[in-house]
This record gives sequence, structure tokens and C-alpha cells, in this order.
Amino acid sequence: MNLKYRKTIIAGNWKMNKTLTETRAFAEAIKPNLGRHKWCEVVLCVPSVNVSGSVKLFKDTRVSIGGESCHYEASGAYTGEVTVEMLKDVGAKYVIIGHSERRQYYNETDFTVNKKVHAALEAGLRPIICVGESLEQRELGVTQELISYQVKVALAGLSDHQVRRAIIAYEPIWAIGTGKTATAQQAGEVCTHIRSIIRKEHGARIARAVTIQYGGSMNAKNAAELLAQPDIDGGLIGGASLKPDDFLTIINAANQ
Ligand code: PGA
Repeated sequence: MNLKYRKTIIAGNWKMNKTLTETRAFAEAIKPNLGRHKWCEVVLCVPSVNVSGSVKLFKDTRVSIGGESCHYEASGAYTGEVTVEMLKDVGAKYVIIGHSERRQYYNETDFTVNKKVHAALEAGLRPIICVGESLEQRELGVTQELISYQVKVALAGLSDHQVRRAIIAYEPIWAIGTGKTATAQQAGEVCTHIRSIIRKEHGARIARAVTIQYGGSMNAKNAAELLAQPDIDGGLIGGASLKPDDFLTIINAANQ
């Protein structure tokens, strides 16, 4: 973290979990214990059907709500999809784009990610852009090249101002949902690399202002060590964000 230049953002990615009734129970459990998380922003990205209800449940708190995906078109014949305007209109502030599960199961590519990033920023939503290598790619030694490519394509055509509002989440695929966290050093190295790519493309002033998260089995035990890395400015948290106590512990680790 580097609180002088950028915000720390702790974001939950609930994936296909929790009904609105369960979300209410979660909200009741964490609201009294949120405290004043003045350094870090807290976000919950929830299934699109629950965005509106979640915004209401967290209305009087500093927890912002986000979607987990969006389409890049403004409207049209795309059965089952939601637009950025729809998310924005019901109160979302963030949207996850290019999560590896979307890339794997729903054919998202770096080019559709780029279109979605543009759509989100134009609508006033902050995109949480996921990048990350598979185990095979790591073992082949191509992690840095792959991450450079993913980040460059995701941010292609954005203004400096837009890049500042984007959030990059480094999520090694082999660490997601597996309990296998990248070591703080491995995660820190890639996040530093991501900042160096942004620096080359957009200059030092923009690069140091961008929030870069780590995601992949971040939990109540390892969060503090990961967040102590200078270029890790928060987390995108799946499993541990579903448990109120664990999520609160991670928020507190970011507020130390
Ligand atoms: P995990 O998921 O924390 O359960 O590994 C992270 C993510 O997929 O964003």
C-alpha cells in the first residue's frame, strides 16, 4: 500500500453466491463492526440481480456496491446480459471486468475486456480489471509478457484521467479458489510490473495513482502480509468475502 498516492480498495467478489435474504444477514453482521475505515474503500461486487437490493442494504454505510460483469453495448439483443447504465442506474459504483472465470466460461477476450472498460468508464463506473496467468504460463516463464499484454490491451485508447479511475486486480488463475495464495513476494513483483507498464504508457504521475489489487485466496490470515507490499493496494476477495468475520479482518488489515 502507499497511502500517500492512492486509495486502498478492499473488494469482495461474491460470484454466484448469496441470495438477497442472505445478503441482508451479512449486512447486519458487518455493519455494526465496520468502524471508520478511513484509509480503505470497501466494495462488494454481487450478482446483478442483487445490486439494487444491496445498494439499499448498505445505503447508510461506506460500503459501495459493484456488479460482476457487464456488456459493452448500450442496449440490444443480448439475452441475459446487463449494461453499464443498468448497473449505474440502480446505484452500482464499480464493475468487475475480465475475471478469469468470465474469460474461461464465457469467452471473454482481452478485446472485449477493453470494450467493456471503455463502456464502464464512460458511464461513470469504476472497472476492476482482472489479469493473471495460469500455472502453465507461470511455469513457462511468460507471466510478465502475458500480464503486459493483458494490461496494455485492457487500457488501450483510454485517456490518462480514465486510467486513473481504473483498478487493476492481479489474480493468478492458479491461486483462485484453490487455497494456494501467491507468496507476498510473487504477488508484489507482478503488481510492481503492472505499475511499470502503466508508467511507460501513461507516465509516472498516473502510474502511482492507480490502485492495483491482489486476488487469489486472500484471506484473514495472509491479507496483512500481502497488503504490506508497496504495490499491492488492496484485494479482490472471493471465498473469504462471504464470511463477515473474515471480511472484517481483511478490512482491518488494510486500515493498519
Ligand atoms: P478467491 O477468489 O478469493 O476465492 O480465491 C478471488 C477471485 O476470484 O476474485
